[in-house]
Amino acid sequence: MTIAIRRMQPSDLAPVMRLLAHWNIAPLAPSREVPVPERTEVIVDNTYVALDDEQIVGVCSFIQHSPHLAEGASLGVDPAYHGRGVGDQLALAVRHEMRARGVRTIRSESDRPETINWLVGRGHRIVGTVPKRHAFGAPDIGQWTVLEFDLDTLPESRDLNSG
Ligand SMILES: CC(C)(COP(=O)(O)OP(=O)(O)OC[C@H]1O[C@@H](n2cnc3c(N)ncnc32)[C@H](O)[C@@H]1OP(=O)(O)O)[C@@H](O)C(=O)NCCC(=O)NCCS
Repeated sequence: MTIAIRRMQPSDLAPVMRLLAHWNIAPLAPSREVPVPERTEVIVDNTYVALDDEQIVGVCSFIQHSPHLAEGASLGVDPAYHGRGVGDQLALAVRHEMRARGVRTIRSESDRPETINWLVGRGHRIVGTVPKRHAFGAPDIGQWTVLEFDLDTLPESRDLNSG
């Protein structure tokens, strides 16, 4: 099985949203019930997808808050593909994209212990916690663990089949 990593295209939106919905992290529009959603959109230009043939099996995105600070967003891999390096390949593509745009620090918010451990194992450090604004992500976890990654520690080389 060969996994291809490439930039998201607008036509990927429906399968990307389905994948994010699996993890309960699909963006939603503001409403009376949820005036300030945790996520309101997937920024296509900031997003990479993983494909097995034509099927989208992973997604990873970011939001750039300032010239040097970006937030990791919308990370999800199809459970049928876990443990095959899909998350690693996506994270690498997005990290290089961020650095190419001048980002120095990635901040991420994560809730599931296995995802937090995955991020810590890949160089992120825990810097705090914040309460969730509404039910999002793991339904039984009410707070985000905030992590940071210093992009200056990323090796220069890039070995990806992404466009
Ligand atoms: C975390 C995640 C991106 C990892 O993707 P992946 O493609 O399975 O990971 P990789 O193959 O690159 O790496 C495998 C590692 O992930 C770990 N892992 C984390 N969650 C896992 C899961 N649910 N199933 C299998 N392995 C998992 C494995 O133990 C393995 O660790 P190791 O390298 O230290 O041995 C993926 O499990 C996922 O989408 N989780 C939900 C994301 C989420 O919570 N998003 C919202 C907030 S950030």
